Amino acid sequence: MKQIKIGGLFEASEIALGSWRIAGLEADEAERLLATAVEAGINLFDNADIYGGGAAEEVFGAAVKALGIREKILVQTKCGIRSGYYDFSKEHILNSVDGSLKRLGMDHIDVLLLHRPDTLMEPEEVAEAFDVLHEAGKVRYFGVSNQNPRQMELLQSFIGHKLVTNQLQLSLTNSSMIDTGFNVNMEINPALDRDGGVLEYCRLKGITIQAWSPLQYGVFEGTFIDNEEMFASFNAKLQEFADLKGVEKTAIAFAWILRHPAKIQAIAGTTNPERLSELCKGADVDLNREEWYELYRAAGNKLP
Ligand SMILES: NC(=O)c1ccc[n+]([C@@H]2O[C@H](COP(=O)([O-])OP(=O)(O)OC[C@H]3O[C@@H](n4cnc5c(N)ncnc54)[C@H](OP(=O)(O)O)[C@@H]3O)[C@@H](O)[C@H]2O)c1
Repeated sequence: MKQIKIGGLFEASEIALGSWRIAGLEADEAERLLATAVEAGINLFDNADIYGGGAAEEVFGAAVKALGIREKILVQTKCGIRSGYYDFSKEHILNSVDGSLKRLGMDHIDVLLLHRPDTLMEPEEVAEAFDVLHEAGKVRYFGVSNQNPRQMELLQSFIGHKLVTNQLQLSLTNSSMIDTGFNVNMEINPALDRDGGVLEYCRLKGITIQAWSPLQYGVFEGTFIDNEEMFASFNAKLQEFADLKGVEKTAIAFAWILRHPAKIQAIAGTTNPERLSELCKGADVDLNREEWYELYRAAGNKLP
């Protein structure tokens, strides 16, 4: 699988695997999932302190240990979401990372992301927390999730570490960061600027966008794959492309994200090793410009 530069600072596979849904897996199931990921070329794994109430990091960490793959992979986790509020205080960031390291059974995290913007953030405190973590060797790189360009600039102006990623929702059916660019200045819903031009901003600054929920529609509503009730014609088009390229529909959905010249990293969330192998084939699927647009339109998006 192709490696891409993350934030201009280090390389990682263009498809990553997320741990949000793995908390309920048995140890052998988690090991098989991670072994399949590594075999497919995935070397970045996305976690969060809150996934499964902390259980996801434990399941993931135990599988990494059992497989002996810690040196081969990059481990990312997140902090900042608490029960009913967001917390970017120095105290919480430091405590959260210590908790993650303990649950993961690791001595360092490769990338730490701030999970969702905390409007009560004092950027000086975040800067201090990042310095403490970096100097202690607990965290190598820092990034954010679900932030707009102004929020990123505010933070970046205080911290001494380059923000390497912004993790945002992106799929064929959740593509507002792309839609807005097609519909500039028009009085229609897809023209709404929901993120302050984050796609172009990240490209300008060399910050890697990580696409979360690449197979989902809505916010945590379900997948469009095989959803005949809502996405029948879209699934037919995905199948047409899948047959043409000799892969499964999920590989086409991933290829669509990876085709964008912003060099986006797509984070898969399946807990099923066979499905993971299938979608990873999307990294080898070439979509030309016309095909990319055809899929975009088939997902229900209109060009002006
Ligand atoms: N930063 C944030 O705010 C944020 C928010 C959400 C997620 N994330 C990250 O993004 C990662 C991916 O999100 P996601 O889990 O929503 O990703 P996804 O890959 O879009 O969805 C995975 C889900 O789709 C299901 N699915 C159904 N048919 C499938 C098929 N044919 N192939 C593959 N999966 C199929 C999977 O079920 P099976 O497991 O049964 O295959 C699984 O429940 C998460 O693990 C997390 O790391 C971040």
